[in-house]
Amino acid sequence: MKEKTIDILIPGEINPDLILNDPNLEPRFGQQEVLVQDFEMTIGSSSAIFACGAARLGLKTTLIGVVGDDPLGRFMQDALRQRGVDISSIILHPQQKTGVSVILNRGSDRAILTYLGCIDALTADQIPDPLLAQARHLHVCSIFLQSRLRPGLPSLFRRAHNFGVTISLDTNWDPSDNWEGILDLLALVDVFLPNEQEALAIAASSELSIALDVLVQRCPLVVVKRGKDGAIARRDGETVIAPALPVRVVDTVGAGDSFDAGFLYGYLAGFPLKKSLELGIACGSLSTRAAGGVNAQPTLEEALQYVSG
Ligand SMILES: Nc1ncnc2c1ncn2[C@@H]1O[C@H](COP(=O)(O)OP(=O)(O)OP(=O)(O)O)[C@@H](O)[C@H]1O
Ligand SMILES: [Mg+2]
Repeated sequence: MKEKTIDILIPGEINPDLILNDPNLEPRFGQQEVLVQDFEMTIGSSSAIFACGAARLGLKTTLIGVVGDDPLGRFMQDALRQRGVDISSIILHPQQKTGVSVILNRGSDRAILTYLGCIDALTADQIPDPLLAQARHLHVCSIFLQSRLRPGLPSLFRRAHNFGVTISLDTNWDPSDNWEGILDLLALVDVFLPNEQEALAIAASSELSIALDVLVQRCPLVVVKRGKDGAIARRDGETVIAPALPVRVVDTVGAGDSFDAGFLYGYLAGFPLKKSLELGIACGSLSTRAAGGVNAQPTLEEALQYVSG
């Protein structure tokens, strides 16, 4: 077999976040102009934030997704490239515009307005076999936003397995809350990374230990993220837990994606389960120290300082 050149391949959504910050933010209709304290345009979208977290840890990371041939698409490509993500497989849509989220931040509360644009444009058949064959691992997230990718995931996952590629999935929340097809999809997944709320909803249980039992019957390794309470992982008969780091939280945007990057680094390196969990937690918790998803993602050296195993 030819040597793999990609550690993690991510078929994903790509959009910037335009963030308006003001503790007293109160948008008003009727053509009234409201001045706000601060503005930032930053890397948004789970897949892009995950890709940046993985690249920061030193993994060879390729993101394949769709952007428009427009300034927001170019902003995302430049920002991803600067963070070490391979963008050579990104597809330019000839007509559609790059998607964008406008986030109105008022202290700990926020309103999010999203224009989908190309966010849901990627389909599974746009991921060619020669690219898949180069990857060690495939990570998919935000599958309820990526509505054109979702129906093709079973066949994409089978193709990936045929090339010896391992697969992880972080569904993120299903806005319709019916989680259609997820339990079946888990049979094709090697590592499942939900948060607690998602795990309970998918397993149709109100108790985490029962949900874990249900989920590990489908997928060999299940890792449940629990925000400030850390995380829990279960594989075969082994269950490990670890607390979050006591950090001064600025915002938790993308903490789950940064966690995924850390955990999967450990998984691919063959770390023991506890050590992978602690690395995921270090990456998740440290990422909350700055605004936005990518600005405080740690290097491997920094994250390993918080890992005991
Ligand atoms: N308030 C917090 N304090 C410390 N660490 C945190 C906090 N919130 C999140 N984290 C860290 O980030 C990890 C993942 O966070 P979380 O459980 O919120 O995932 P998620 O719900 O998938 O996130 P996302 O909103 O990005 O999808 C946690 O396991 C923890 O390590
Ligand atoms: Mg999440």
